[in-house]
Amino acid sequence: MPRVASRSGPDAQKNACGEPPPVAIVRVRVATPYDAPAWHALWKEYGRTASRDFTDAHTNSVWQHICEPSEPLKSLIATDAAGVPVGFAGFHVHYDACNDGLACHLDDLYVHPLARQSGIATRLIDTLLEMGRSKEWVKVYWVALRTNVPARRLYETRFVGPDGYIRYTIFLAGPVKHSVADSTSAITRPPELMPAASPVAAVEP
Ligand SMILES: CC(C)(COP(=O)(O)OP(=O)(O)OC[C@H]1O[C@@H](n2cnc3c(N)ncnc32)[C@H](O)[C@@H]1OP(=O)(O)O)[C@@H](O)C(=O)NCCC(=O)NCCS
Repeated sequence: MPRVASRSGPDAQKNACGEPPPVAIVRVRVATPYDAPAWHALWKEYGRTASRDFTDAHTNSVWQHICEPSEPLKSLIATDAAGVPVGFAGFHVHYDACNDGLACHLDDLYVHPLARQSGIATRLIDTLLEMGRSKEWVKVYWVALRTNVPARRLYETRFVGPDGYIRYTIFLAGPVKHSVADSTSAITRPPELMPAASPVAAVEP
């Protein structure tokens, strides 16, 4: 069970001056094979936040990719003061042709509900940025559902606004479940580009 005081949630503790406590003591490190049980539990909860019921086979497959040194997929793990994992940031590094350097895509970000709004996601992203600067990556980038207000507020108040690109996705195979979770995407689409019928809408993550 995570033991991180919430900074601004409904159960936030305040000091004598009525101020929220400082950012919780959180450690962020690269995931190791020993994190398997905790990461599996967090990953399954992450899937449920996006109405994706990740199967054990799917979950095991992701974890194997993370643990395989030759694979690009990696994960940071955030632990609370007691060393209990409370969140993760999955990412992969790839060659970015336009910038002739390495770029990092933040694939998945999740913080346990009891540990939220105590600065953990901020620490995870900060750590990724520190890694990137030390490894001379040219950029760190990611996507978010337009409708994901907490995530967008986090990104846009602490880090960066949208970069102006629009993502296009055509699913070709795989057990992809479709939903209309991001139906607001039509808002920014000029009428002449509106399809007669949209066959799929991507589900995040
Ligand atoms: C989005 C998520 C990762 C944020 O994690 P977190 O550890 O609570 O984030 P932080 O504590 O670092 O938040 C920093 C800031 O983000 C914003 N924020 C975070 N949660 C928020 C919420 N529920 N409502 C409004 N703003 C919120 C606030 O500006 C906050 O600063 P404040 O606490 O000083 O007000 C977490 O809510 C989560 O795991 N959600 C489910 C999975 C998900 O949506 N992942 C992102 C996919 S793109």
